[in-house]
Amino acid sequence: MSAPTVIQEVRARKIFDSRGNPTIEVDIATHNSFGRAAAPAGASKGKWEVQSYPSGGVDQAVENVKEAVAPKLVGMDADKQETIDTVLHEIDSTDNFSKIGGNTAYAVSVATSLAAASSKDIPLFQHLSGTFTYEIPFPIGNVIGGGMHAKGRRTDIQEFLVLSTKASTAVEASEANIRVHSEVPKLISKFGATVGGKGDEGAWVSDLETHKALELLSEACEVVSDDMGIEVRLGLDMAASTLWNPKKKVYVYERDERRLEEKKQIDFVLDLIEDYNLIYVEDPLQEDAFEAFGELTKRVKGCLVCGDDLFTTNIKRLEKGLKHGAANAAIIKPNQVGTLTDAYKAARRAKLAGYVPVMSHRSGDVPESVLAHLAVAFQCPIIKTGVVGGERVAKINELFRIQEAFGNRAKMASINV
Ligand code: PGA
Ligand code: ZN
Repeated sequence: MSAPTVIQEVRARKIFDSRGNPTIEVDIATHNSFGRAAAPAGASKGKWEVQSYPSGGVDQAVENVKEAVAPKLVGMDADKQETIDTVLHEIDSTDNFSKIGGNTAYAVSVATSLAAASSKDIPLFQHLSGTFTYEIPFPIGNVIGGGMHAKGRRTDIQEFLVLSTKASTAVEASEANIRVHSEVPKLISKFGATVGGKGDEGAWVSDLETHKALELLSEACEVVSDDMGIEVRLGLDMAASTLWNPKKKVYVYERDERRLEEKKQIDFVLDLIEDYNLIYVEDPLQEDAFEAFGELTKRVKGCLVCGDDLFTTNIKRLEKGLKHGAANAAIIKPNQVGTLTDAYKAARRAKLAGYVPVMSHRSGDVPESVLAHLAVAFQCPIIKTGVVGGERVAKINELFRIQEAFGNRAKMASINV
């Protein structure tokens, strides 16, 4: 009789993500288990990410699983994640998954790991990490959002984030974030602005100027900090590639009526960090500005400078960044690179270099909890997954379950800032 983790069946189908866009879902069945995973999708994607789908889109990706992936994977061992992921690269044969699609590779890779974990009757994070003690990541989430994640009158900056690094449990940290989120509509009129609904990741869409948004949130954090007795700090995802005008070589802030050349952008970001005691700044510069990232990081004190579009979870981009001292934190979005093995290698490399790996959702996501397991398994001290919304809290709530089940063996992570 063959091993229980031998793959018997691989199926794929089209489903919809939180934005209502089609995405791919994959089922993997072994002799005694089953794994199912669907891929998330970005709206402000980095140009160095793998290609999400082949030409022909999700329908073609589903067809590719049937024709090209299933015949190779049936009979393989789901417990051999690295081998499975290597075979996915071989089937595709390009360096950016343009034939089968990066999201296809992602869904197959994750469904395989879920099937293997289920076959062994252990949770996914345990299957992937193989360690005995675990660190629970702190959730960081956006409470005001604009840029490419919102329509209408919105902030120039994509994400205004909150993070509570002193919380003693994931529940407490998440509750602090939620309470700051709920303070925003209460305080907004005081800042001469309005709330225009929520964006793709559940953050409030508002016509606030950058400084006003940060002033409002500083006040909201104070209210929550006083009430809960824990510090709540602010962060930003500037997604600066979306502000960058490559022809004019300036960062353009439409609402703020601000145009900044690179050096001025660095000064602007440093001032924001100092004035609002920011703990986290993601993509403060456009995705190819390695040297400017290095300059900013050198001058920053007590704040994480995180590369998302800069690194795209790609180990070669990360190595280049390390040479420039470009950041001190790196976003890990597994579907930016395609497979769990590639994402794991990027997270491990970041950690080895002293960079904080930050496991992250996408703006279009699916209502499942895999990301929480990946954050724990890859030892990411921070998980970026929004504050409210079904597909966001699916991941946050899973952290609570992991922490509850593992008690003393699942302490809150420590963050090196
Ligand atoms: P996404 O971006 O829209 O590509 O998921 C989110 C982010 O910039 O972190
Ligand atoms: Zn980002």
